[in-house]
Order: sequence, then C-alpha cells, then structure tokens
Amino acid sequence: MKVSIVGTGYVGLVSGACLAELGHHVTCVDVVEAKVKSLQAGQCPIHEEALPEIIEKTAGKTLFATMDMTRAIHESDLTLIAGPTPFDGKQIDLRFIREIAASIGKALKTKNGYHVVVVKSTVVPGTTDDVVLPILEAESGKKAGRDFGVGMNPEFLSEGVAVKDFKNPDRLVYGGIDDRTRDALAELYKSFAHTPTVRTNNRTAEMIKYASNSLQATLISFSNEMARVCETHPNLDIKEVLRGVHLMNEITPVDPTQPGTRKTAPISRFIGAGCGFGGSCFPKDVSALIAHGQQRGQAMPLLSSVMQINQSQPLKLVEFAEQSLGNLSKKNVTVLGLAFKPGTDDVRESPAHPIIAALLHRGAAVTVFDPIVQSLAGNSSVRFAKNLGDAVSGADAILLVTNWPEFADVPRMIKTSGKPVILCDGRRMFAPDSADHYMGIGLKSGNEGRL
Ligand code: UGA
Repeated sequence: MKVSIVGTGYVGLVSGACLAELGHHVTCVDVVEAKVKSLQAGQCPIHEEALPEIIEKTAGKTLFATMDMTRAIHESDLTLIAGPTPFDGKQIDLRFIREIAASIGKALKTKNGYHVVVVKSTVVPGTTDDVVLPILEAESGKKAGRDFGVGMNPEFLSEGVAVKDFKNPDRLVYGGIDDRTRDALAELYKSFAHTPTVRTNNRTAEMIKYASNSLQATLISFSNEMARVCETHPNLDIKEVLRGVHLMNEITPVDPTQPGTRKTAPISRFIGAGCGFGGSCFPKDVSALIAHGQQRGQAMPLLSSVMQINQSQPLKLVEFAEQSLGNLSKKNVTVLGLAFKPGTDDVRESPAHPIIAALLHRGAAVTVFDPIVQSLAGNSSVRFAKNLGDAVSGADAILLVTNWPEFADVPRMIKTSGKPVILCDGRRMFAPDSADHYMGIGLKSGNEGRL
C-alpha cells in the first residue's frame, strides 16, 4: 500500500519504519527539515531499540521522507496523522492535529480518487469525527464517506520496545466512519492476520486507548498508595506484599493440567511501587481524560487521585534523604537516572525533574548521571557526572530514579568507597541489605536509613 505519515515523533517514526519494512511504500512528512534530512540519509533521529537498523535498511527503498505534504498525499492511498497532542495544563491541545488536518484537506482538494485519513495520535473521544472530519471536508470541498474515509487507529507502543511491540501487536483497533475505511486499515495490517482486531467507530477507538493507559496508570498509583501504608510499619515491605498479590489466580493463573507451571500476566509490571510514572503518555493522557470527562459534566475522582498520588510520589525520595541527612543544604546528592524509564533518552515528565527541583530548592549540591541523557535543557544548576563512579564518589545520598541495568553495581561501589552513603531506591532495584544505609519506596520505616 502507499502510505503517508504526518509527524515523525516516536509513534510516526516507529510506525513508518516498521510499515516500510513490511513492504509498504511509506512517505514520512514533517515540518522539521533536520528530521526529514536525517531520514533521507537513512539515519534515525531518536534513540529507540532496533529502529536505526530498520531505517538504514529501508531508507530510499520503501521509506521516504519529505516536507512536501501535498505531494505525499497525492502519491499515497492512506494517510496516518501522528502529530503531537500535548496537555496544555487545562485540556488536550489539538492545535497540531487541526493544522495537520487542514493541510491534508488542502492537498485532498487537488487529489484525484478516494483517500483514507486515519488519526493515530492519542486524541479524546469525538476528535476524529467532530474536529478532524469537518476540517478535512471544509478544506477539501469534498465529502467524507464518498470522496475520502476517516478512521482512528490508536497505537499501543511502549518506548524502548516500540519496534518489538509493533511487530508483535496484542490487538489492532480499526476505527472508521464506514467499512471501506476499516477495510483499508485491515489491508495496511494484513501481515498480522492472527492478531485480534476490534472493528469499531472512531469514538470507541479513541476511548480504548485512554481506558488502556488509565488502567495501567491506576495500577501504578494503587501500588504506590499501598506502599505508603507499608512505610508506616516496621517490617512491612511492599515488594513482598505485591509478590503475594501477583500470585492471585487472576494474575498468575493456575493451570490444573500443568501443575507447577504458572505464568504471570504482563499487566503485573504495573502493579509495582516506585517513585512514580512519567513519559510522554500516562501523565498527559490521564490528565486529558480527566479534563475531557469534567468538560462533559462527568467528575473523575479516581483518575484525579491517580494523578495526585503520582505528583507527590517522586518527592518521597527527597523526604527519605532529608530524614537521614537532616537539612539538605550543601549536602552532596546524586540523582541516578534522568530518562523516565530505562532504554530511552526521553526525559518528558520524568520523576527526575521534580526531584532535582526539590533538591535544588533545599540548597543541595546536585550531581546527576544517566547512561544516555547527557544534558537537561534549561538546567545549569546541576553537575553532570563523567561516569557512574564519578556520580557515586563523594555523594552523601544517592537517589535512584531510573532502573537502568547499568546501575546494578551501585551498592558494591558504595561499599568499596568506604564512605557512609544513604541509598534511596526509587525503583526497588536493590536488595535492602545490599547497602548499609538503604531506604526504599514501600519499605522505609522510622530511622532505619539514618546515618
Ligand atoms: C505506555 C504503555 O505501556 C503503552 O502500552 C502505551 O502504548 C504507551 O504508554 C502510549 O500511550 O503510547 P510508555 O509510556 O512508553 O508506554 O512506558 P511504560 O513502560 O508503560 O512506562 C510508563 C511509566 O510508568 C514509566 O515512567 C515507568 O517508570 C512507570 N512505571 C511502570 C512505574 O512507575 N511503575 C511500574 O510498576 C511500572
């Protein structure tokens, strides 16, 4: 199929490259010239496992990039909209989606033949039918359903493993105004014949995405609330508690035909306590859905609490350090991990931001280290360590924010340094007895960590 993809962020780029690898003729469209040029040269502009190889292999053969939207639309049968949908503090900001829809509409005006426009970005229910479709009609002077199809096809890609997720989809959602649109999506993904599909309308497709992300975010905040209770008791560890929870039949089913072989459902990875969720999806999407519900007269108390818990959770690590060291002014505090999770260079909504801000506010001398992220825009008050050894040496407290496997050696490094250091584990990565002064989310009680 001939496909154009507008927007080459994580979603657009991964989808575009993987569709090109499947043999589709894909043209990525972006307004940022540098991104277009790097794609044309076969270079991957972001850090994402396995993506550079695919781009290198497909560039100039089945994967193309351009800034010329009109040409890309004219020379394709289906267009995916993969523009950003930020949260502006009050509601989802659809500015980019509107702009993209208007440009596509203008191009459709001069295109001969039927075309399908599909929203891939995460947008609140009603956006595709009530915002995108009318803009396409107004700008093209054509009629949806007759001259072009309008669909919604949410992505379920997790950063760091996005290529793997694309190649092994758990589900495919084909939203559309009619069967012709949904059939075009089925054709696009025909390589995944064994994947369960949901053929539905656009609103349902939009809501499936929000409900999925909200469920995962809710499980994280649920785990963190449980962790907070554990922290008020001696000898009560959230990790052990959740291990017991994971063994419930609904999460780790008992198979009577194969005693002893039990497989834990992947959803359990969100039933885990830590210093909070971040990234480009959960905080933005949950906030957008809360605002959307409220705008429609529907209070959203559960998701509002999910966000409230998540906003205060990173500061737990700062509290731990304070409880052990007292006043943090002039204390050397190292933050390990800036990316919102391992395997990515993405620092959007990372818990590291509020943690660093709180430490600086308290007058601490902050050192940071991340295996990939080597700078923080607009933050000149922190020292970037040269390497992990440099980050650990001289620290009074180490706050682990991202569970990069590269940090596995930190307890040993602390021990060999001979200096008393408080280790505040925001991801419960280390065993509590791995350091002399250990404090972890959902475990700390009283003054165990005090130096
Ligand atoms: C998430 C979903 O996992 C994908 O299914 C979805 O498609 C994607 O959002 C999206 O909407 O595009 P992603 O944000 O890349 O993917 O990363 P996750 O691995 O889900 O992690 C999200 C955040 O939750 C991270 O900050 C992680 O550290 C945090 N997390 C995860 C916890 O705080 N605790 C946990 O137990 C698990």
